[in-house]
Amino acid sequence: MTEREAQKKPRVAILISGTGSNMLAIIEACKSSALDAEIALVVSDNPNAPGLAKARDAGIETVSAVYERGVPREKNERLIAETIKNKKIDWIVLAGFMKILSADFVKQFPGRIVNIHPSMLPAFPGAHAIRDALEAQADCAGVTIHIVDEFVDHGPILAQEEVPIQPGDTEESLAERVHAVEHRLYPKTLQQLFHEDI
Ligand code: GRF
Repeated sequence: MTEREAQKKPRVAILISGTGSNMLAIIEACKSSALDAEIALVVSDNPNAPGLAKARDAGIETVSAVYERGVPREKNERLIAETIKNKKIDWIVLAGFMKILSADFVKQFPGRIVNIHPSMLPAFPGAHAIRDALEAQADCAGVTIHIVDEFVDHGPILAQEEVPIQPGDTEESLAERVHAVEHRLYPKTLQQLFHEDI
C-alpha cells in the first residue's frame, strides 16, 4: 500500500474500560483488511484496563484518561476530546467504555461516535443488559450497534442481531455467545459505516 492510500483510511479512536475483546476484534479486522481503517488511538478511563496492554502490544498509541471524583463530566472528558482532535480522528468507537459521555462531548463529534450494546435496544439499556435480560426471563439477548446521541444507549441503529437465551443459561454462558456475535458484527458494521454502505 502506498503512503497516499494509507492516508485515506479513516482514523479511529477506540474507547475502552476493560477487557477490550471487541477492540481486539476490530484491530484484527484491520490487520486482515476486512476493515479498511487505521486504529490510531486507544483511550481508557481505567489505567489498569487489560485492553490497554493489548493495544500497546499491537503497537497502538494509548492514553489513560482517569476521571476525578466530584469533577464535572465535561472537565473529565477534556483530555479525551483534545487528544482526539489533535490526532485528527475521524471516528470514535466505544467498545466497553463504561463512562457516560456528556451531551457537550457528543456535540463536538456529531454522528461520529459509535457504540455497541449487548441487548436488542431499546430493550435493556444500562450497564447490566445481559443480567437484566436473564432476570426478565426474556427470549433473547442481543447486540445493537448504534450512533451515539445525547441520551444513554440511544441513537440511530446501524445493526442488530438477536442472541436467543437457552434453558440453563447463566450470565457467563450468555455473555460468551453475545461476545461471539459482537466480534463478528462490530467490524463488519464499521466497515459499512466508514465506507458509506449504510
Ligand atoms: C461488550 O459486551 C459491549 O457490548 C459492552 O461492553 C462489553 C465490552 O466487552 N458495551 P469487551 O471489553 O469488548 O470484551
